[in-house]
Amino acid sequence: MRRKLAAGNWKMNGLGAGLGELEELAQAHGDPAVDVLICPPATLLSRAADSVSNSTINVGGQDCHTGQSGAHTGDISAEMLRDAGATAVILGHSERREDHGESDELVRSKARTAIEASLTAVICVGESLAEREAANTLDIIGGQLAGSIPDIVTGENLVVAYEPIWAIGTGKVPTLEQIGEVHDFIRARLEKRFGAGVGRSVRILYGGSVKPGNAAEIFGVSNVDGALVGGASLKAADFSPIISALEAA
Ligand code: PGA
Repeated sequence: MRRKLAAGNWKMNGLGAGLGELEELAQAHGDPAVDVLICPPATLLSRAADSVSNSTINVGGQDCHTGQSGAHTGDISAEMLRDAGATAVILGHSERREDHGESDELVRSKARTAIEASLTAVICVGESLAEREAANTLDIIGGQLAGSIPDIVTGENLVVAYEPIWAIGTGKVPTLEQIGEVHDFIRARLEKRFGAGVGRSVRILYGGSVKPGNAAEIFGVSNVDGALVGGASLKAADFSPIISALEAA
């Protein structure tokens, strides 16, 4: 069955001094019963990998380029992430879709490159508040899944994160029914496109204002295989109880 995954997205937060949080986490969860992934800014990646080297915690990137190398000032390739110690990369986060105009097609191309570099692609999808209010959520999610996921995925190298844009960093969380509806829909779409074997092995994470206080109930929802956590992943004191809640789910 699917092994659950607690993933932390530090976004544009974290200096060397913050690595103590990671060491604390690795001490508290040396060999957790779930997978744990922390995605720090790229500048910290190799030091973060060192900080968790005595544990089974993995580190990942937050974005990569579609190409393998070349004249792309400021960009980072999947192979570079891998070389720095990453095992996974977040792709198509709504902040990248918004801040950098990333399209489904671009995300799909990045995901293909990441998978070819032996990284797990954590592909994010999610609707805006206007789309939710217009009752378009499933259409939007269906389109993002079809457009953003490359054909080459397996159950192991793809993770899908459902992150309603209006729930990210806002403290607002969808109802458990709303989360369940979207996760069941994503599962059905994955099974339809990739077959039951692959479709049932892909982990589907919920993301958006996951905190120690709401994690357990969210982890009880069908087809929720873990969480992608932003703000509450920055401090071991917040992320540790979320990992424990997932272990208990
Ligand atoms: P949040 O962010 O937990 O701070 O809401 C989640 C995310 O953007 O991945």
